[in-house]
Amino acid sequence: MKFLHLFSFLKIKNSMNVADYIKKVPKAELHLHIEGTFEPELMFEIAQRNKVEIPYQSVEEVKKAYQFSCLQDFLDIYYAGASVLLYEKDFYDLTMAYFKHCAEENVVHTEIMFDPQTHTKRGVSFETVINGIQKAREDAKEKYGISSLLIMSYLRHLSEEDAFETLEQSLPYKHLIKAVGLDSSEKGNPPSKFQKVFEASVKEGYVPVAHAGEEGPAEYIWEALDLLKIARIDHGNNCLTDEVLVKRLVDEKIALTVCPLSNLELQVVKNLKDHPLKKMLNLGLKATVNSDDPAYFGGYMNANFLQIAEALDLTQEEIKTLVKNSFEYSLLSDDEKQKYLIQVENFE
Ligand code: ADE
Ligand code: ZN
Repeated sequence: MKFLHLFSFLKIKNSMNVADYIKKVPKAELHLHIEGTFEPELMFEIAQRNKVEIPYQSVEEVKKAYQFSCLQDFLDIYYAGASVLLYEKDFYDLTMAYFKHCAEENVVHTEIMFDPQTHTKRGVSFETVINGIQKAREDAKEKYGISSLLIMSYLRHLSEEDAFETLEQSLPYKHLIKAVGLDSSEKGNPPSKFQKVFEASVKEGYVPVAHAGEEGPAEYIWEALDLLKIARIDHGNNCLTDEVLVKRLVDEKIALTVCPLSNLELQVVKNLKDHPLKKMLNLGLKATVNSDDPAYFGGYMNANFLQIAEALDLTQEEIKTLVKNSFEYSLLSDDEKQKYLIQVENFE
């Protein structure tokens, strides 16, 4: 009886519950738009100090506006919100606020997308944007020990020529940028539209990634692979409509940066219980969990993990796979990946 009691105590001690595991395990975020971390409170503060008008009277009113029926609905509000960002300090404050969330949630590495054109189109210089973000990256490394890298994303609703101009503007800051991405309105803007600028970006040393198969068809994922030569797919949900494509992604270990709460809020899935994340893992796809635009979609990394784990009844082993994938398919060096993977392996 006594032994039995001791055994059950040890068992409880060794098997941390899934929610605690999610909150405490060191993890990486691979799909995050810095403009999508703009919380209404900070938006109001910056709008006021910059004397920029926004079409809302209160934080509550802003939050009420966050009801989206599709990607475009969201993008309209997201670009309007970003329009109050004018100075280096604004980009610094925005980025530092995101890093604070990372520190609180044990996100130890993050790969941050930024959309230069959202700002340069309004007359804010590339330099202003990247200097603010870069200073925050340095301070977050020092203050919280968080590592990060930058993905410069081209807006796909604009022309390829416009993306070329952005590539040109980025060159003096090439040493600060790891990768190029492709985001914004997917339908009607296939990867093929950006083949030349991706080729030129790779020549400059940038790693190519792209949003594909979020609202667009599996065909766009094929194009991203074959024409843009991408190393990783952002979202990628619609690969599941094409068995041959799934086999290719599995065979070539092309990871998907999946964003559960984003998929729910943008009506990619009607209910989190219908989310294909577990199916992706069962098929052997290299899925990761990410927050995309946490200020707009109701949660940062841990909320994404907690809600999807509950909806799909994910096991601790499945969570561990997702967390290991986040480092394995990051853009870190092999040595850095190994360092983090050992931490996850030893984490109890
Ligand atoms: N820009 C910010 N979030 C995005 C998303 N989920 N899809 C495409 N572009 C985006
Ligand atoms: Zn995204």
